[in-house]
Amino acid sequence: MPLVTTKEMFQKAYGNYAVGAFNVNNMEIVQGITEAAMEENAPVILQVSAGARKYAKHIYLMKLIEAAVADTGVPIAVHLDHGADFEICKDCIDGGFTSVMIDGSKYSFEENVELTKRVVDYAHERGVVVEAELGKLAGIEDAVVVSEADAAFTDPDQAAEFVHRTGCDSLAIAIGTSHGAYKFKGEPKLRFDILEKVTKVLPNTPIVLHGASTVMPEFVKQCNEYGGQLPGAQGVPEDMLHKAGTMGVCKINIDTDLRLAMTASIRKFFAEHPDKFDPREYLSPARAAIKDMVKHKMRDVLGCSGKA
Ligand code: G3H
Ligand code: 13P
Ligand code: ZN
Repeated sequence: MPLVTTKEMFQKAYGNYAVGAFNVNNMEIVQGITEAAMEENAPVILQVSAGARKYAKHIYLMKLIEAAVADTGVPIAVHLDHGADFEICKDCIDGGFTSVMIDGSKYSFEENVELTKRVVDYAHERGVVVEAELGKLAGIEDAVVVSEADAAFTDPDQAAEFVHRTGCDSLAIAIGTSHGAYKFKGEPKLRFDILEKVTKVLPNTPIVLHGASTVMPEFVKQCNEYGGQLPGAQGVPEDMLHKAGTMGVCKINIDTDLRLAMTASIRKFFAEHPDKFDPREYLSPARAAIKDMVKHKMRDVLGCSGKA
């Protein structure tokens, strides 16, 4: 099974379930996620940010993902997360990715349309699909902080015009999620009414939810028990993610939960084994924690188990 685009994955998923898009930065993360996908027989999107490319280098991540395809046989799409400009999208398309995100959400509507269309034209000529974003999420990505005051929900009518003018394959919308471990100060709330309006004006356009980690309480607790300091960390409740998956959200982005699973495991290991220093000994349980978490997401939250 070669690398695939998200086209068929999203067609099958639309209105029924969502496919998980997990951020990868090293071998243990790639293995944990793809072994989970294999055991769950689930399609999976591995996504790579600019920060991940800087940390691990494009070629290492690509080779790790190719190895995972050969090792697991599950349909894997490899996606650029939050491409900031045309050049990084071009680099990833030329470098073997099957999907890219052009994130023009920081620009005006007209500039976003123009930039996205340019990427779409380049990508489609090469069989690569494009995710775009309209609306602004609060939170942190690639060390850029968007304050709550600067965040803005997606306007459904603008969304329709945007998709028609750009020809993008999927659209990331802002309905109250945000990146990182601190998503809500009080009760978690998502604007499902906006999602519903978007899918009414854009029937069958796959919708993407960024900032969709649950910030799983057991990992936060474990981090804090073993020396971490994450007071008040809170994410998107799993029932809300499940509901989104039945309403046209086809791709659910998860990074923070991977980071927390890995960190909680390593913190515990070091606290319990202060004498150990072999990375294989603390990275093995960390990889297993990622795998268990991803299996749970696929089976109990996204609903994509058995859909490979
Ligand atoms: O959206 C942000 C993702 O969590 C990627 O984070 O840019 O630090 O790799 P990163
Ligand atoms: P989280 O920070 O909620 O995991 O979101 C990740 C994301 O949206 C990557 O693009
Ligand atoms: Zn994101």
